[in-house]
Order: sequence, then C-alpha cells, then structure tokens
Amino acid sequence: MRQGASLARVLEAAEGVQGRAAARVVLALAQAAAELSAVIARPSIEGRLGAATGAANVDGDAQRKLDLIAEDLCRSALQGAGVGPYLSEETEAPTVLDPAGTVAVAIDPLDGSSNIDVNGVIGTIFSVLPARGPDAATSFFQSGRAQIAAGFFMYGPQTTLVVSLGQGVDVFTLDRSAGEFLRVEQGMRIPQGTPEYAINASNHRHWREAVRNYIDDCLRGADGPHGKTYNMRWAGSLVADGYRIFNRGGIFLYPADGRKGYEQGRLRLLYEASPIAFLAEQAGGAATDGERPILDIVPHRPHERAPLVMGSADKVERVRRYYQDVELTRAEPVGLSGARA
Ligand code: F6P
Repeated sequence: MRQGASLARVLEAAEGVQGRAAARVVLALAQAAAELSAVIARPSIEGRLGAATGAANVDGDAQRKLDLIAEDLCRSALQGAGVGPYLSEETEAPTVLDPAGTVAVAIDPLDGSSNIDVNGVIGTIFSVLPARGPDAATSFFQSGRAQIAAGFFMYGPQTTLVVSLGQGVDVFTLDRSAGEFLRVEQGMRIPQGTPEYAINASNHRHWREAVRNYIDDCLRGADGPHGKTYNMRWAGSLVADGYRIFNRGGIFLYPADGRKGYEQGRLRLLYEASPIAFLAEQAGGAATDGERPILDIVPHRPHERAPLVMGSADKVERVRRYYQDVELTRAEPVGLSGARA
C-alpha cells in the first residue's frame, strides 16, 4: 500500500480475528492520541499540565494533571473497542472494560512525565495481548511473545505513531488538518553500527559492573575496545530515546542498579519494556534485560519492572557479552597472588 495511506486504510488489511481486534484497538487509541496531542498543544492558561495532583501511581511516581487526562482519554477510547482486561500505569489493579472483549491492553497513557512542562517529547505506549481468563489479571501473565500488536505515540514537534501488528513496523504522522494519521514509513529497520548510546549517566556509580564496563569502553572512544568515538543522547522519555534509536541505530539502556527500588531498573515490563521490545525485534533490532530477551520474560505482577537494553542487534549482543564476561570472571578461581587462574 502506498506511502501516505491513512492508518484506517492500512489497518483494514489486518488479518485474522486477532489481527482485526488489534487493529480496532490501534484505531481507538489513535483517536485518543489525536485528542491528547491537541490538549498538550494548548496554552497552559488554566494551570500547568505537569502540576502534581497530590496523588501517586502504584509505583510511587507523582501523578500529574496530564497523566490523568491521558488515562481518561485512553480508557474511554478503548471502552467500545473490544477490549477485555485493561491495565494502566495509572491504576493499581487490572480491570475489565468489556467482558466480551477478546484482547487485553496494557498501557502507559503518558510516558516521560518529567518532560511535560519543559515542552519536551512525551508519549503513550501500549501492548495488545490475547485475552485469557479467568480474571482481569491473568491475560497479563503471558510472555511478551504473545503480543498481537504494540506501539507508541510521540507528542513532539509532530505527533507520531510507531506500530507493529507482527509484520514489521510502520510509522504514521498525524495530519492535523485532516485529523488522521498518515503512513510515512513502512517496514522500518533499526540500523547497525551507529556509535551512539542513551543512558542516564548520573547513575554511573549505582550500575552493575557489566554496564559500567560497557559504557566506560564507549567513553574510551576510538582508542578503546569499541574502536569508535561514541556520542551520547538522553531525552528522558522512553518514546523519544527509543524513536531516535529506531531511526538512527545505537543502544538504549535502563539497567538495574544499586538504588533502592531500582533492583529491576525503572521501566515497567508490561507497558514499557515489552511493547518496545516487540517493536525492536520487528524492526530487526533486539531487546534484553542485559542477558535474556525481554520478550521471553513471563510477568508475575501487573506493574513489575524490567531492566531494558534495546537497540541495534549488534550492540545489544555486545552488552550481553559484557554481562557474560563479568559472570565468567566471577566464576573463575582466583589464585593466591590474586591473579586470575
Ligand atoms: O518510565 C518513565 C521514564 O520517564 C521513561 O520514559 C524514561 O526513559 C525514564 O523514566 C527516565 O528516567 P530518569 O528519570 O532516570 O531519567
């Protein structure tokens, strides 16, 4: 189908019962995203959208005005879209929107909250799974490989949708005058060989040895083992940092670290790491928790976290070897002199 085709048109081609159910979800969320994008673009005369509501989400993050607006828009858009179980970052327990719904949706309605009042890029990330009984939570305890679709919207200079229904990754941009998303890229591939990384470097002292070794080697530049001068970028929202990597290649890391509460990193598995990993694999890239593919993890709790190492396949594999090397070094017996045997 041609470039410039509308999202609705492209989704008409979705195949199978599950494919069509996922297409319905994506269309409903596109409607919510278009409305949210308009809310974000409005002058903040009635108070800042990033103002704290005084409440916190289940993970302890302060809830902001825009978090709640985004949650309301997404949830109501999904009400009539054949969605059974629904899990949002903003609500503690999963609920059922439509008992007859055949798919389950996990969603972060507003990713990157700290970017709200600085006119930075923020987004909405979602994952669509087959609905499984017997209660609202069970559907979410399937591995990420069960996803039927995943994607994210980015609210930046443009409003963009990056989405996959399991047959590659397409990119759409909101045409505000027409009020619809138009396809601007089909079959997106993450390039390899790009010397660029994204990590919150202020946590250097908290990282595990493998991560520190990898980043320290990047910092060594052309004289180091990577043999290249590296560039670093950190926008502070997963959608923005992720999208840059989908476009340009490189690697994103939010690893586990030594801070209290960060034993499994910062990102939530079901509505952050897993959908991004699905997209990365669909675009020829990779995503692991440092050691194993994110998509192989079976969640046990709705809001559980996972370390995320995502990007060009060659780089993600390289980081895996750093983890492995540290494990091997630890396992090797150390001689009396302290030298490794
Ligand atoms: O999970 C929320 C999130 O804002 C991500 O979008 C982003 O990658 C990360 O947290 C930013 O973390 P930090 O506050 O450590 O920069």
